[in-house]
Amino acid sequence: MKEHYKGLRTHFLGELRKSDSGSEVTLMGWVAKRRDHGGLIFVDLRDRYGVTQIVFHPQMADDGFAVAEKLSAEDVLKISGRVGERPEGSVNPNLDSGEIEVNAKNIELLNESETPPFEIRENVEASEDLRLEYRYLDLRRKKMQNAIVTRHRFYQSVRKFMSDKGFIEIETPVLTKSTPEGARDFLVPSRLSKGKFYALPQSPQIYKQLLMVSGFDKYFQIVKAFRDEDLRADRQPEHTQIDIEMSFVDESHVKQMAEELMRTLFKEVIDYELPSPFPTMPYDDALRRFGSDKPDLRFGVEISDVTEIANKTDFKVFNDAVNNGGMVGAVVAEANGTFSRKVIDELVEYSKIYGLRGLSWAKVEDGKLAGGVSRHFDENLQSELLDNVSAKDGDVIFFAADMAPVALKGLGAIRLEIGKRLNLIDKDVFSPLWVTDFPMFEWDEETKRYSAMHHPFTSPKKEDLDFLDSDPSKVYARAYDLVFNGSELGGGSIRIHSKEVQSKVFKALGIGADEAEQKFGFLLRALSYGAPPHGGIALGLDRIVATMLRLDSIRDVIAFPKTASASALMEKTPSEVSEAQLKELGIRLEPK
Ligand code: AMO
Repeated sequence: MKEHYKGLRTHFLGELRKSDSGSEVTLMGWVAKRRDHGGLIFVDLRDRYGVTQIVFHPQMADDGFAVAEKLSAEDVLKISGRVGERPEGSVNPNLDSGEIEVNAKNIELLNESETPPFEIRENVEASEDLRLEYRYLDLRRKKMQNAIVTRHRFYQSVRKFMSDKGFIEIETPVLTKSTPEGARDFLVPSRLSKGKFYALPQSPQIYKQLLMVSGFDKYFQIVKAFRDEDLRADRQPEHTQIDIEMSFVDESHVKQMAEELMRTLFKEVIDYELPSPFPTMPYDDALRRFGSDKPDLRFGVEISDVTEIANKTDFKVFNDAVNNGGMVGAVVAEANGTFSRKVIDELVEYSKIYGLRGLSWAKVEDGKLAGGVSRHFDENLQSELLDNVSAKDGDVIFFAADMAPVALKGLGAIRLEIGKRLNLIDKDVFSPLWVTDFPMFEWDEETKRYSAMHHPFTSPKKEDLDFLDSDPSKVYARAYDLVFNGSELGGGSIRIHSKEVQSKVFKALGIGADEAEQKFGFLLRALSYGAPPHGGIALGLDRIVATMLRLDSIRDVIAFPKTASASALMEKTPSEVSEAQLKELGIRLEPK
């Protein structure tokens, strides 16, 4: 244990050992538990280092014992006393200081605590909302402290690795002009320029590229990024990125660097050896085989394209999908006869959340299809299908018939659910994967235009440049995502460093010359002054730490996170502001 800065204490709690017996100590901390026992009072005193048992005797000086008798959970104490070995039979092997206790001579109640709204212990029973409202109390729990301390160690490892490799940490502005990363901006009204707004950065994307134009060559930053988007367990309105940019590189250099960083972090922070190199899969394959751009490769269950066979059946749903230019895909659950009708119905229901209009199914029994859509397959088609999808007795085959992306993504979700229900996922394993060769653009039905799949500064593949004008849907991007266990932990790309190409990409995105000048003129100008070829990546810090600790939600690795509706339950944000403040900003609110 480090000797630094103990303040008024001689030891931290959890620091004392048998060899300290006989020493006089002064300790401070919170009452975790109080027990009255045979005329003595025992208190477990807690701080972030551990727990030490304090014993109060009736013959204590002053009114000490009377104070001890009134102690309740979470009171803050100072005690001085002598360390003694615990009597045989009362040693606690689960505590670092479990072999000793401190016999209190003096006690000072530094601060009383109200009865906390929930008991602060490892298996807390309170709802997450209550825990968030009293976050400072929830953070007293060992598990929460461990997550926050792990995060701290993680920062140190990142900074050491990056700095050792010659990357320079540079801060970029938080009051910025909008950088499109696919979400809405959080806006900050300007008082000095009324009617104008700053945007909080969705990422430092443009700034880091400008730093390459400046010749910094290798940049990194541990930085907050702000996105107004629909939230989920792995999304917060403000998240932290390890943001990285490098000059004179291609994809291989950025990926190798990011792999080395990840391997170092997993080794140093949780002593886990990641494989080398990480496997790679093109986006089209990931979608076709796993129905996802972030496949979880800890288990199999791949999607089969059974369009041809399905179209030979007389099942109208299949025929219609094929006639409309769609496909029929299938996944097999090796359920060993354990998937009851109820489970199958649940999966069918579940598929609707993922945009499938329906999910057809058939069981395999005695080498034949049974139930569900089996009657639409004649004997020959049945054996053709069973061969094609390699299904055997006890399996259940699920079919989705729709346009390809919809059917594949739906089956991808069903695949994950099958993996969970059949316990196919090894929770101890971390399975990294690079997903590469993304399409540059995505067609947005709502706005009737293309949007950038990564972001508009990503370089198209050289061989696809000609399609920028003629058919943007054919353009692939020099982008890559880092996926771990089915979760996107990072994303990056080689950037456009030519002003002409950047202008063409803006045009393909439906951004006219005037709008491009108004929004991105400064970037286009910078590109015309000798911008080097460059590329980079941003790694989602909250997601990586949560993944390392095998936590389901990134909220558990953020000291003060927001809820799914982007509010903070403790300090109650967002909140109203005064009329005076609004007036100063030149803002008038619409009546509610
Ligand atoms: P991207 O948008 O992929 O790339 O973001 C990088 C990584 O940040 C994490 N992340 C999030 N984590 C929590 N909550 C969110 N709302 C959230 N959004 C993203 C993910 C993601 O992979 N400027 C580019 C990077 C680049 O091109 O270099 C960018 O921000 O783990």
